[in-house]
Amino acid sequence: MKQVKKYDSQPFELVKSSEIAEGIFDLELKNPQLAKITKPGQFVHIAVPGKVLRRPISVCDVNGDTIRIVFRIKGEGTRILSETRVGDKLDLIAPLGNGFEINNDKKYAFIGGGIGAPPMLYLAKSCAKAKESYAILGFANKSAVILENDFNDVVKKTIVTTDDGSYGVHGFVTTALAEIIDEVDEVCACGPTPMLKAVSEICSKNQKPCQVSLEERMGCGIGACLVCACKVKHGGEEEYLHVCKNGPVFKAEEVVWND
Ligand SMILES: Cc1cc2nc3c(=O)[nH]c(=O)nc-3n(C[C@H](O)[C@H](O)[C@H](O)COP(=O)(O)OP(=O)(O)OC[C@H]3O[C@@H](n4cnc5c(N)ncnc54)[C@H](O)[C@@H]3O)c2cc1C
Ligand code: FES
Repeated sequence: MKQVKKYDSQPFELVKSSEIAEGIFDLELKNPQLAKITKPGQFVHIAVPGKVLRRPISVCDVNGDTIRIVFRIKGEGTRILSETRVGDKLDLIAPLGNGFEINNDKKYAFIGGGIGAPPMLYLAKSCAKAKESYAILGFANKSAVILENDFNDVVKKTIVTTDDGSYGVHGFVTTALAEIIDEVDEVCACGPTPMLKAVSEICSKNQKPCQVSLEERMGCGIGACLVCACKVKHGGEEEYLHVCKNGPVFKAEEVVWND
């Protein structure tokens, strides 16, 4: 088999596709060589027919030869991707970025807000103490809830929160996190920036380490164009790093949150 170089684009065959909630698509893409080396928290950069820029989408899961991605239709690019049919080939650069660091001795809270829930699944599956860990998934309302059963199969308990109380716990993921934080050793989160900031504050107050997966607009996806700069601090010194290459996962205490 030909060796794939790190940033070569590669064909992935779409082997499964479904709409799991309104406007949210679940795709399984086959490429045995690259599926094997993909880690939780990494992302794929997908070429969209007719568009110059690729679209970054997190890896939701890896099953044998396939990578699973779950995305919401946001604009034209994701709409075109949602119309891909089984048997079609998509052009991906993958896997990209650094993933989460997992400690096999730790119990975790995996927190996903909205379309930030998918990358938490492969992470939870890769964790040795998953059956002693929690998933906390936050959505706007009942019709937006995704992946609850997938997480139920993996973790000790899945807590779903909805902003309007139409399903699960009424409130935000932070309400649920405050209830269980004493039972876990570390928190990993992906979702909207205000949610990540609030999660990070709770962790800091409770002296629990926290890793967050950040989202920024991207150009190249490989550290060459500076589009995805984010501010971080190390020992009082602030610097800009690339979300695509140095992240998307960062230690929460190192992120300089914009107000
Ligand atoms: C590391 C990473 C992982 C992501 N994982 C997921 C995921 O698992 N599921 C999911 O639904 N979405 C995810 N996103 C967001 C997804 O990339 C955007 O929703 C998508 O690029 C929008 O493209 P569009 O053409 O449909 O929308 P448009 O708004 O038409 O896009 C116009 C341009 O802006 C960029 N853009 C727009 N919104 C975003 C955004 N939120 N983040 C980055 N670039 C954006 C697009 O890539 C495109 O270049 C992720 C983003 C990043 C950075
Ligand atoms: S997207 Fe080009 S440097 Fe990150």
